[in-house]
Parts: sequence; structure tokens; C-alpha cells
Amino acid sequence: MNSLDRYAVFGSPIKHSKSPRIHQLFAEQTEQVLQYTAELVDAEQFEVAVSHFFSNGGRGLNCTVPLKELAWQYAPHKTERAQLAKAVNTLIMQVDGSLLGDNTDGIGLVTDLMLNHHICLKHKKILILGAGGATRGIILPLQEQMPLSVTVANRTVAKAVSIANEFKHKGLVTGCGYSDLAGQRFDLILNATSASLTGELPPLADTLLAEQGSCYDLAYANEPTAFVRWGQSQHAIHSLDGLGMLVEQAAEAFYLWRGVRPDTKAVIQTLATERQ
Ligand code: ATR
Repeated sequence: MNSLDRYAVFGSPIKHSKSPRIHQLFAEQTEQVLQYTAELVDAEQFEVAVSHFFSNGGRGLNCTVPLKELAWQYAPHKTERAQLAKAVNTLIMQVDGSLLGDNTDGIGLVTDLMLNHHICLKHKKILILGAGGATRGIILPLQEQMPLSVTVANRTVAKAVSIANEFKHKGLVTGCGYSDLAGQRFDLILNATSASLTGELPPLADTLLAEQGSCYDLAYANEPTAFVRWGQSQHAIHSLDGLGMLVEQAAEAFYLWRGVRPDTKAVIQTLATERQ
């Protein structure tokens, strides 16, 4: 049997996942001896694959599309942020042998915004585009930074309203459609739709971004995404993609598993260079 501590990311598709590279860089930097692999696992295989993994030396697991909701159902114990997100991206084998499900996406975003890019969230008006799983994962960590308000806008308005209802006990959050945004301005606009992946954009008016405002696309690509380009066209102070969030959510998972915090700036720099 392999005596190395084993970690992995499960998902489908998984070939282009950057997680093995990120965790390899973390492990080298912090001198942790471990193995981290990417495994092609679809929804039908999920339960068997997870149970096999943890019965064979698995210490921690990341789950990505389309498995985060299944991981949430599977995890017997969950952190509050994962519970509310209804999605788990990190499974941790605890010392008593039980599995804890967490969601590190939101804290990854907040860390990238605040620590890496010095974007202040306190008392700011935040707009989130989209009302799917990606939005669920980030609302609570954003609310914890005490923004003035969080607005969720979505093509299917009922989904935005429903998400807002689930999080309103944690801070001011409202759900609406894109046309309801007329006349409003936001300090930070986050794109959590899957539109970027196909080069599309939600219908965004040219009046949405406040002076000195910033834009952030949770997706990332080798080229600037359609939303990053939109932010640039609106003269955003920052118009960023989600590479930093990807590394920061991984760093949080690494910390939960190993108890050591890697230097993320160096790893973000390496990945930014490698994608050029
Ligand atoms: P994820 O888990 O990545 O959030 P999802 O749950 O499928 O994926 O949600 C995708 C989100 O992107 C939804 O909010 C979707 O809007 P609808 O709920 O109205 O379908 C949004 N989306 C996808 N393509 C879009 C487009 N071209 N324009 C606007 N919104 C889009």
C-alpha cells in the first residue's frame, strides 16, 4: 500500500484541473510529503469512489463540477459555510475517523479580494451576477465582511430571490432580475454565472459600476474572459479573473488538511506565468 498521505480532486471533466499543480507547489514550499492527484469521477461513481479513496489512505478530497452538491449530501458533518452553501468542495478525514465537509470557495474569494488586491468590502455595495452553486458558495463569507448590501441578480429571477431568502438572516441581501438594477451603482461586481465559459455576458448596463469600483470573474481562462473585458471597458480599478480565488481556496483546503498555510502569492505568480 502507498504510505504517502493521499489527496485528490474528483470531478468531470478533470483533465485541465490546476489543483494537482497548485498542491504540488504548496507541498514543495512547505516541505510536506504528500501525493495529490486528479481523478475523473462522475456523479454515478461518486459514492463508491469516495468511500474507496478514504478506505485506501485518502486524507482529504476536493470535489469540483458536478460533484459539490453530492459531496454536501455525502458529508455527515459540515461547517456552517458549507451547510448554507449547500455545496462541499473539501472533505477532511478527521482524527476520529469521521468526514467533515467544508466549502473554501468563498473564503478563497474574500482572501484574494482583500489580501491580494486590497479591495475593501466593508460598507460597500456588492452585486453578484448569477444564482447558481457558485453564488451560494460566496455569499456568507462576503456577508461576514460587513458590506452595505449584497444584491444577487439572475436571468431566472425566482432563483435570485430564493437564494437571498436563504441568506437574509446573515446580512442585507436581495435578489432581483437584471432589469431591476437600473439606476443602481455597485462598488464591486462579481460574475458568478457560467456565461463566461461560453464567452457570453449577462445583460449589463454601462451605468452599473461605481467610480473606483472593481470587477471580478469567478471563472478564469488563459485569455481575459468576456466579463473581465467588460470590467476594463467600464474603467474598473481592478478587473480580475478567478485565478487568485482558485489558489486561495486550495490554500484553505491545504491548511485544513495539513495545518500549514502556504505562501499563496508565490504560487499565484507561478501559475500566472505558466498560463502565458
Ligand atoms: P454554477 O454551479 O457554476 O453556479 P449553475 O448552478 O448551473 O452553475 O448556475 C449557472 C448560473 O449562470 C445561473 O445563475 C444561470 O442563470 P439561470 O439561473 O437563469 O439559468 C447563469 N447563466 C448561465 N448562462 C448565462 C447567460 N448566458 N447569461 C446570464 N446568465 C447565465
